[in-house]
Amino acid sequence: TRVLVLNGPNLRRLGIREPDVYGSATFEDLEALCRDAGRRLDLHAEVRQTDDEAEMIRWVHEAADERLPMVVNPAAFTHYSYALRDALAQRTAPLIEVHISNPAAREEFRHTSVVAGVATGTIAGFGLSSYVLALQAVADLVAREKS
Ligand code: DQA
Repeated sequence: TRVLVLNGPNLRRLGIREPDVYGSATFEDLEALCRDAGRRLDLHAEVRQTDDEAEMIRWVHEAADERLPMVVNPAAFTHYSYALRDALAQRTAPLIEVHISNPAAREEFRHTSVVAGVATGTIAGFGLSSYVLALQAVADLVAREKS
């Protein structure tokens, strides 16, 4: 099963950007981690990143049309993008929202997620392991749909 792993703004700067918050692993490390975790779970994880809201929304439409499960870290879009939320609301397969940090334990503006209400569920606060846990959740949901 193909899974889109979509990452929003500034996430290509992992390892460089605020390492005290997001850790020292790079975006390339994240790609490798997701691909390896996917392989173990019989999922083909396609990892993408964009700083562009329009591009992110096009990818979400692609997932809706092709019935692809998604793991999405919307980054700052999480907190204000109704356009992304509306795109995600069309989902046709499991959708897991992920965060590296725990936004609930950070600044007030991060306490709101406008996308959480259209996700199957949210995993936050476990560093890059959040993605591995999310892929595990996708694998479980896909297996349940098939049985
Ligand atoms: C983030 C949390 C967001 O608040 C922030 O804007 C990000 C990353 C996370 O993965 O912890 O860019 O989504």
